[in-house]
Amino acid sequence: MSDDILKLEGVSHAFGNTHVLDNVTIDAKPGELLCLLGPSGCGKTTALRLAAGIEELQQGRITLSGQTVAAPGLHVPPERRSVGMVFQDYALFPHLSILRNVQFGLSDLDAAAKRQRAGEVLEQVGMSAYGESYPHMLSGGQQQRVALARALAPKPRVLLLDEPFSGLDSNLRAHIRDETLHVVKDSGTTTLIVTHDPEEAMYMADRIVVMNEGRVEQIDIPDKLYTAPANAFVATFFSSINRLEGVVRAKMVATPFGLISAPDLGDGTPVEVLMRPEALRVTPLDGALPEGAASAHVLDARMLRRASFIHLCFGGFEGQHLHFHSRVPGRYMPKIGDHVAVTLERAQTFVFPLRQKSR
Ligand SMILES: Nc1ncnc2c1ncn2[C@@H]1O[C@H](COP(=O)(O)OP(=O)(O)OP(=O)(O)O)[C@@H](O)[C@H]1O
Ligand SMILES: [Mg+2]
Repeated sequence: MSDDILKLEGVSHAFGNTHVLDNVTIDAKPGELLCLLGPSGCGKTTALRLAAGIEELQQGRITLSGQTVAAPGLHVPPERRSVGMVFQDYALFPHLSILRNVQFGLSDLDAAAKRQRAGEVLEQVGMSAYGESYPHMLSGGQQQRVALARALAPKPRVLLLDEPFSGLDSNLRAHIRDETLHVVKDSGTTTLIVTHDPEEAMYMADRIVVMNEGRVEQIDIPDKLYTAPANAFVATFFSSINRLEGVVRAKMVATPFGLISAPDLGDGTPVEVLMRPEALRVTPLDGALPEGAASAHVLDARMLRRASFIHLCFGGFEGQHLHFHSRVPGRYMPKIGDHVAVTLERAQTFVFPLRQKSR
């Protein structure tokens, strides 16, 4: 018997002839905050709607606390799943006050208990003062908090949030997602949040489910996904990345920075070498090139918040001109045309066999 609160097992789904989910398996442990992360159209919302019971399951199985709520021929309706949902547009009832909006899902309680519970959750999200207001009187961020309070009010087993911050500008977004993280964690509710923003997922998630074209590419803690991606899609999704194609020779691949080891790949395997911008260490070049460094010249240098982003040109590596990027913490602004020495940190360099496009 597993201790999963929410489990999707081998879930596949199609709309007409369009296959949207392909054998998706996801499990959420008690109190865990999972993020479903992937590009637009990869099936995130569909997975969430199936878990909520808004969409009927075609193939696979969904369990909540070990109880099957969806399987072919079995469909427990949303209101009997004890699942709270927050939609992208918050979906508050415009004609109901904030207090009534939050009370809406509390059908099992008497009037006094409803008021009390609604008051509690409004307090939790810092919206106690707005009980008598109406949704149109609130800002986007305030509406988001109310939507979260409404979803939490019935103490659901699972909270499902679909891009809950996408309507907010970037400063407010950072603030509200931090608040949401703490409210959700304090409530102890197992939570699945959909996002297409890797930074948001890394900020919030205990584990991230990376999806692509209806499939799960990798499920892991944020640190592991960033430092040990399972494949090129996952590596590339988390940051802009420098890329080079090559061929394995004697368990090695050639790069401008010397040989990179590819211990598990056979001779002649076509591969891609992916190097995070922060793996490229740039120093001024005066005199001889240090051991293991490649020479480059600077095409441009920009401040990007707390890091400098440097565009580099490596002339003549195996007949190619390579344009790579380096991200250097703090302010380092070499001049355009400067010659620099660049070394590569191997820990943030990944080698994968070139994947044939399957669809
Ligand atoms: N009700 C529907 N009928 C037909 N096709 C649909 C339906 N809902 C979704 N789709 C299609 O299924 C695919 C996955 O949609 P889904 O909304 O799950 O993606 P998503 O990952 O949530 O994307 P986004 O990040 O843009 O919200 C898309 O190609 C979409 O057009
Ligand atoms: Mg979606």
